[in-house]
Amino acid sequence: MSESTTVLISEEDLQKRIAEIGQQIRADIGDAPVVLLCVLKGAFPFLADLSRAIPGEVLVDFVQISSYDGEKSSTGVVKLKKDHDINIEGKHVVIVEDIIDTGLTITHLRELLMTRKPASLRVAAALNKFEARTHPAQVEYIGFDIPNKFVVGYGLDYKERYRQLPFVAVLEGATE
Ligand code: IMP
Ligand code: MG
Repeated sequence: MSESTTVLISEEDLQKRIAEIGQQIRADIGDAPVVLLCVLKGAFPFLADLSRAIPGEVLVDFVQISSYDGEKSSTGVVKLKKDHDINIEGKHVVIVEDIIDTGLTITHLRELLMTRKPASLRVAAALNKFEARTHPAQVEYIGFDIPNKFVVGYGLDYKERYRQLPFVAVLEGATE
């Protein structure tokens, strides 16, 4: 079977939902500047769209997490391969993630960032695989709940491919 993609969430539906989340974030945070912390690489399209959907002052910065192999991930320590530059102490921060799967990454990233004393810390995820959760994760803003299938597009990759697609698609026929 050759590799194929089937659209799961259209570009139009993504953009509509992100516009709502942007308004909601501004309503929740009030007039203060919002610091969006994009988790590289997968969250880059969501960061771009979300940053333009939040009225008022928005700052953007980036973190990248070093990935562990399957066995080591259970030790649960998140290490930053790239740290943010903006000092987040006393700031209203929103972590911008592509997808919440097991919940491990976001749980530990939240813990780490809390030690830096932001005024508030929230999580926005474009996609949520709620059936795959092994770690209870606090996620304030969810674009779409999706089934436990491997998806690509809108930043998500399979072997670094498909990130540029403006929609989310289920990938079929990929050889592991
Ligand atoms: P977790 O919540 O700690 O399991 O980590 C979620 C991460 O796994 C995401 O940031 C993605 O990089 C990756 N991931 C999970 N599900 C998918 C998928 O369906 N397609 C592509 N990457 C995925
Ligand atoms: Mg990711």
